Amino acid sequence: MINYKEEIIRLKEEKNIVILAHYYMRDEIQELADYIGDSYYLSKIGLDVPHDIIAFCGVHFMAESAKILSPHKKVLLPNMNATCSMVEMATKKEVLKLKEKYKDAKIVSYVNSSTEVKSISDACCTSSNAYDVIQNIDAEEIIFVPDQHLGSYIQEKVDHKRIILWNGFCCVHHNIRAKDVLHYKEKANQELQILVHPECRAEVRDLADFVGSTGQMIQYVGQRNEKDFLVVTEEGIFYELKNKYPDRRFHSLNILCGPMKCITLQDLYECLLYEKNEIILEESLREKAEKSLVNMLTLSEKK
Ligand code: 13P
Ligand code: SF4
Repeated sequence: MINYKEEIIRLKEEKNIVILAHYYMRDEIQELADYIGDSYYLSKIGLDVPHDIIAFCGVHFMAESAKILSPHKKVLLPNMNATCSMVEMATKKEVLKLKEKYKDAKIVSYVNSSTEVKSISDACCTSSNAYDVIQNIDAEEIIFVPDQHLGSYIQEKVDHKRIILWNGFCCVHHNIRAKDVLHYKEKANQELQILVHPECRAEVRDLADFVGSTGQMIQYVGQRNEKDFLVVTEEGIFYELKNKYPDRRFHSLNILCGPMKCITLQDLYECLLYEKNEIILEESLREKAEKSLVNMLTLSEKK
């Protein structure tokens, strides 16, 4: 019987492989990762680490983004079935068609998009920096793809610009309704701070004390004195929340993202052992997509 945990630790040291994991990964994967974070953090950390090989425990577009930004590194995805369905909701052809209608608009794509869509975007963004990117980009009109909910959330905060929305969504967060949150609150019958991911519908965001990316939610808890938090996002986030704040209580709506959960310890072990499932991108496409990710990094840091 293979002891996956021991073997993963041995292999990553022997081969000098860095393991990155998103907050939605299974607990046992997060436990073994060298770095855990939200999409924005993970896109940057891949650039900074000195390792030549990255095992990216997240969904495909995240590993692809790491490869776009670090083309000389070998980026491995432990399970090729880890794909985000939102990515399929916008194709390059469809986006270019919309652009014909709004010639002066700039295209901002959520990082949950394909490399092709990134290659025709003026900038990318994640949920933690979408506001800064849209605020700082030099355009009054922005075509925002694919997530309608994140787009409409930013539109509420940036009223001097026009955001042309796409009709994509995250099937996990889109399914949550206001009544689910209200029902939980009623049952709990106590004070709860409500934290909501911006991929949720407006009716759910409107009930929130705080709206933000996974990383921002974790930070927010650290700034509060309250004890009880209802965290409206994928339940992998509870691993870090409980580790970081053992004195708080976290309440869950049992929200699960199947593709995020499909990466197992066995997948990670085999990925390190055989260095399999490498992300390969065509160079001219990668270069174009890189510009939109580099613009994201610049626009999100700009004051
Ligand atoms: P974060 O950037 O908040 O980690 O979100 C990633 C994601 O896919 C949310 O569904
Ligand atoms: Fe995609 Fe939603 Fe899963 Fe995030 S939670 S990876 S947006 S399906």
